[in-house]
Amino acid sequence: MKSIQVGLLGAGTVGSGTFKVLQRNQEEIKRRAGRGIEITMVADLDTARAREVAGEGVKVVADAREVIANPDIDIVIELIGGYGIARQLVLEAIAAGKHVVTANKALLAVHGTEIFAAAHAKGVMVAFEAAVAGGIPIIKALREGLTANSIQWLAGIINGTTNFILSEMRDKGLDFATVLKEAQRLGYAEADPTFDIEGVDAAHKVTLMSAIAFGIPVQFDKAHIEGITKLAAQDIKYAEQLGYRIKLLGVTKRTAQGVELRVHPSLVPSKRLLANVEGAMNAVVVHGDAVGTTLYYGKGAGSEPTASAVIADLVDITRLHTADAAHRVPHLAFHPDAMSDLKVLPMSEVVTSYYLRLRVADQAGVLAKVTGLLATAGISIDAVLQREADEVGGEGSTQTDLIILTHDAREGTVDDVMAELQALPTVLEPIVRIRKEELS
Ligand code: HSE
Repeated sequence: MKSIQVGLLGAGTVGSGTFKVLQRNQEEIKRRAGRGIEITMVADLDTARAREVAGEGVKVVADAREVIANPDIDIVIELIGGYGIARQLVLEAIAAGKHVVTANKALLAVHGTEIFAAAHAKGVMVAFEAAVAGGIPIIKALREGLTANSIQWLAGIINGTTNFILSEMRDKGLDFATVLKEAQRLGYAEADPTFDIEGVDAAHKVTLMSAIAFGIPVQFDKAHIEGITKLAAQDIKYAEQLGYRIKLLGVTKRTAQGVELRVHPSLVPSKRLLANVEGAMNAVVVHGDAVGTTLYYGKGAGSEPTASAVIADLVDITRLHTADAAHRVPHLAFHPDAMSDLKVLPMSEVVTSYYLRLRVADQAGVLAKVTGLLATAGISIDAVLQREADEVGGEGSTQTDLIILTHDAREGTVDDVMAELQALPTVLEPIVRIRKEELS
């Protein structure tokens, strides 16, 4: 049978890996897919780069629309990134009846509803395994492997840059800014790392996983997003002393009231596997009612790991493209007419536990006042750590750090009590609040 013909938009790192892996493993991939898969056309504004990546026998063009207009192309791979021209090209490829494979989490998290509706109407597939956690087949696991389950929650380290920075901060006791510079020098962090360090990239990914896990529309605008830029080395140290590590987690949870969808630094018990995911690696823990807790670990970025996911999508489409559209796996795991209207909860309604650090005057009654206000608000304390004043502020210091771990509480209640605590004359600096996930 004739090979399926693929057009590639964007010949960067992942595009190059896709060529290499397709070529190296072509026989095995063909045996799995049932027919050959061949990239026959590449579009990149840098045609010299595209020529180098594609090698001989592949048509190279500068204009992506030439690929979309080619009637021989069955599948378009979009590796341009961003929400601008990529959105336009993906919609045009769908309109032209092409199946689309994309690694573009930003595009799908923000414009997914529009794109999946267009694909559904046209009867084509939009596959995006590479958009979440790079080479880890988490989309496949959530959408198919765990399809028997009512998924209760998932939590993931889904941004390698920030996990690398946090690992270095912990190992070397360095502050955020110093480690960020080092990460940029080593090429782990982009020259403009905003999306990574502010949690936006992780929020794109958890938004997609949340939609698939719970059968809700993609709602990036409802995600609560906090990055790691304000994390202090001393909180990483105190967390360690209490038996926790701090990770940037993407969390989504089904509750009776709605769905939690959030990205923020979290204390994770050191004994959990997730707490031991170091460097630029990614991992996602998923809890289903039937299967219990499952863990997926691997490289979340990079040329060949991401190409592995892109090619898995190419194989899926090759197997399924002749199937009746109604019998394919739905884009978001649930059939479009069976989506849930569970609302995404505002952060004030999220229930979790907390690490609070208060810089306080080291004098009689301070601890009693603080714990009294927490008790009045109905917030139960799990652990308290108080440092020696000398250790915190140097010889003769009259200030100290008071660290409190709470049991589960509603975030809105914690906000209110934090405002009361902050107003105490004996609380000397802004209170640090980091959420805590037991993941049990
Ligand atoms: N910038 C991402 C990360 C990789 O650091 O994990 C691509 O999603």
